[in-house]
Amino acid sequence: MRQSATAFAPASVANVAVGFDVLGHSFQAIGDRVTARRIPERTVRIASITGTSTDLPKDPEHNTAGMGVLSMLQDLKLDFGIELSIEKGIPLGSGLGGSAASAVAAVVAANALLADPVSKIELLKFAMKGEQVASGSVHVDNIAPSLFGGLVLTVGIDNPNVKQIPVPATVRCVLVHPHMMLSTREARQILNRSIDLSNVIWQSANLAGFLTGCFTGDLQLIRESLEDVVIEPQRKLLIPGFQAVKDGAMSNRALGCSISGAGPTVFAWCEEQDAPRIRDAMVAGFTAHGLQSDAWISTLDRVGAQIVD
Ligand code: HSE
Repeated sequence: MRQSATAFAPASVANVAVGFDVLGHSFQAIGDRVTARRIPERTVRIASITGTSTDLPKDPEHNTAGMGVLSMLQDLKLDFGIELSIEKGIPLGSGLGGSAASAVAAVVAANALLADPVSKIELLKFAMKGEQVASGSVHVDNIAPSLFGGLVLTVGIDNPNVKQIPVPATVRCVLVHPHMMLSTREARQILNRSIDLSNVIWQSANLAGFLTGCFTGDLQLIRESLEDVVIEPQRKLLIPGFQAVKDGAMSNRALGCSISGAGPTVFAWCEEQDAPRIRDAMVAGFTAHGLQSDAWISTLDRVGAQIVD
């Protein structure tokens, strides 16, 4: 029986412009790492939090990783406890699914300590309990891609159907993270509670077109569909320079460009050969508005959370 295990869970781009709260993709270049250790007391303890943000609650009930493992311990009636060491690689309040990645890495690491490990779909439910602590609402569009990997659609909350969607092999994702923080709670609170019927139709067409484009490898259809007409117009006001960043991406042949999760990180999908130019143009857009940023380019491989040690 393992006494300890370390898991890495990748960052994620939630919504992917057209699937608010239901679509997301993993982003392998960055992520969180959690080590779970067996302890005799039947409790969850957080031993350390290191990395990009250390000022997070150590009380397991108020920590995404802690809460995920606590619900696992209770539901599975484990006869031992778990101590967690959390290494944050994802910046806090960046829109890159940091709280979800910590919860996912924690439950994946804890699962490796069990005599009878549970399925990924069970782990998803435990990680959801963790994510709820951070965002105050239940959505799985960061957790599911971080856990399963690649572009992931989740239908349903209580018994979620999780489907990995194929992505054409030449597609890359460019992520540009400006050095500022946005709270997911606030970015959800500002959203209008009602939507024009015409926008519902437009967004539904875009989601259907985008998924069809992914399944059929039709880059032109992806290009025409990858546009958020509901959430982005409201949230872009929270991100200084957003329009310049998006214009930089689109004028350099991006397939689409929008807000990653609740922001402020901005993502663009593009073809491989265009990615470096698009990255530079997006970074320049933030610089012109006085914001330094970090940028990454990644494939959209189906690689989710994994045991690394
Ligand atoms: N779908 C969520 C949102 C992701 O955009 O609010 C952020 O956690």
